[in-house]
Amino acid sequence: MHSSRSPFLRVVPALALLLAACGSGAQPDSGAPERPRTLGMCASCHGIDGIALSPGNPHLAGQDEAYLRLTLRKYKSGERRHPPMQAVVGALSEAELDELARWYASMPRNGLRAAPEPSTDAEG
Ligand code: HEC
Repeated sequence: MHSSRSPFLRVVPALALLLAACGSGAQPDSGAPERPRTLGMCASCHGIDGIALSPGNPHLAGQDEAYLRLTLRKYKSGERRHPPMQAVVGALSEAELDELARWYASMPRNGLRAAPEPSTDAEG
């Protein structure tokens, strides 16, 4: 079954290539995780690649996975309070939260758009 084409479908292979190309030695050998189906619930604020799209929203790209998992559970339980986050997280299962944590933790810290230029040696 094929869903209609979306820009997201083009991002996934590019993402796998990027992660393979710029591995810094600390990447898990399993490569990029599968894009969570629920990512759209987060992307409007945190971006698909974890770079927030508007002021006031934290970047999640490259954040520690265990921290993300724990934090999402805290929103869900109410231990950490922020009504918009609690509302969106409350609709998701723990398995779905873990997928999202894994996704965002696997993103390059500067986001997918900033990653391609590999000229880190040149002096500015
Ligand atoms: C309406 C915008 C919005 C949406 C949608 C949203 N978030 Fe957030 N998120 C925020 C804001 C704002 C914060 C900071 C809240 C706070 O101060 O606790 C936050 C905080 C977080 C944090 C904690 C970051 C940190 O550094 O401690 C995580 C993790 C997170 N969001 C993940 C998600 C995930 C996963 C989704 C989708 C299921 C999502 N968010 C959906 C706005 C949003």
